[in-house]
Amino acid sequence: ASLAMEIRKLMATVQAGMETEFRDNFDGFSRLFSRWILSSGPALEWSSIKPLPGSAVKNYDELVKPIDDQLAQNILSKLVVVKLNGGLGTSMGCTGPKSLISVRNDLTFLDLNVQQIESLNVKYNVDVPLVLMNSFNTDEDSAKALRKYAGFRVNIHSFNQSRYPRINKETLMPMTTSCTGDADDSWYPPGHGDFYESFVLSGLLDQFIEQGKTYCFVSNIDNLGATVDLNILNLLVGNEQQESPEYVMEVTDKTRADVKGGTLCWYEDKLKLLEIAQVPKEHVDEFKSVNKFKIFNTNNLWINLEAISRNVKAKTLQMEIIVNHKTLDNGVNVIQLETAAGTAIKNFEGSIGVNVPRSRFLPVKKTSDLLIVMSNLYKMHNGTLKMSPDRAFPSVPLVKLGDNHFAKVREFLGRFASVPDMIELDHLTVSGDVTFGKGVALKGTVIIIANHGDRIDIPPGAILENKIVSGNLRI
Ligand code: UTP
Repeated sequence: ASLAMEIRKLMATVQAGMETEFRDNFDGFSRLFSRWILSSGPALEWSSIKPLPGSAVKNYDELVKPIDDQLAQNILSKLVVVKLNGGLGTSMGCTGPKSLISVRNDLTFLDLNVQQIESLNVKYNVDVPLVLMNSFNTDEDSAKALRKYAGFRVNIHSFNQSRYPRINKETLMPMTTSCTGDADDSWYPPGHGDFYESFVLSGLLDQFIEQGKTYCFVSNIDNLGATVDLNILNLLVGNEQQESPEYVMEVTDKTRADVKGGTLCWYEDKLKLLEIAQVPKEHVDEFKSVNKFKIFNTNNLWINLEAISRNVKAKTLQMEIIVNHKTLDNGVNVIQLETAAGTAIKNFEGSIGVNVPRSRFLPVKKTSDLLIVMSNLYKMHNGTLKMSPDRAFPSVPLVKLGDNHFAKVREFLGRFASVPDMIELDHLTVSGDVTFGKGVALKGTVIIIANHGDRIDIPPGAILENKIVSGNLRI
């Protein structure tokens, strides 16, 4: 009751013209909050998790290509590409949307995504639309950055995901005192699971269905490997042997670096995405094991539009709630309730996983990932990165850059006069105050450690092969 009173007070501060948006956000938030507050006991019965049946995850190699360009054009004309663009670049020390960080040749994630779709449209003479799901944090800056694409062969649409109030952990009251404070930290975007509802509310989903579109491909905007794949699209369309699945999740083989990623399991006779947040403490090691759960979710999702519409309208997408704990700058402990897009897989008919090559999962989360995609390990063509044929093994090196000197993009860039040659690199660890001159080549295993108070400048043109460089000691 006191929550309802708080919300009524808030309603009084809504700006004219924003009432519907506020009402939609309020409805969504109340449903999420009620589900959370009324939930009791563990949401997941660990012993009911069954191994995946053989048919649940297909191997990418089994998929069939569209037989000719005519069919490719036909199926592409039914596709909408959605990029999840609600997140900020804070983890890499940037203030704006993450998608506006420069990745290569001064092109941002957003630029690369636009280029990819544009070249696809030109190649197949189609008009696949690019749709951005923004948040209140990213919409203004993204819209500005998109102005330059007005004359290009790509129709870009944007919609905003929801904006929910953070909740005070002690009082369970919303942190908000007015509806207008976009800049304050009382509000948050509730995770990418919000996509389904916000897409429908924006009116875009119905608009695309009316235009004859049938499928969407949803992925993280920072996953540079998430390009439109005709074989997967062809699977979605179905044929005489294979019914059309409503939902395809791209998964890939887990390595020791991915043990925290969500995995698919068989639960209550359905495919279910199991996230680490849902796993009881005593089973976390089992969840992380590469033997029991061999694959993880790339968050590249292919979904039937009518099926989204049906589920959202019937309110059947009861996605697991992720409770995210934070402490605000003023020291107040808050929680924000979030959902993840892939957890909706259980609500669609004939859902399947496709085990794709690792190259379709190329996320940039840290500056070490940025160094890899900026380097000569990749070649870029029409906004798509491909591993260089000069690399002997198709795996990327393990790169670790020290948090104190390399975590922020600006400082990281300042430490490299040019991006080193990394084509023969297996493992790089850099820690402390280290700079790299122009034209450095790194090969094999290279470890560079500047102790506190020391600084190491790698001279221009240096070739470091299986070397440890530490203080004044060079081995
Ligand atoms: P995340 O910040 O969730 O990254 O953003 P993650 O934790 O590595 O990825 P997941 O959750 O395991 O997949 C993933 C993508 O989702 C967008 C971000 O902009 C990014 O592209 N995102 C995230 C939203 O659009 N809205 C949100 O509320 C959260």
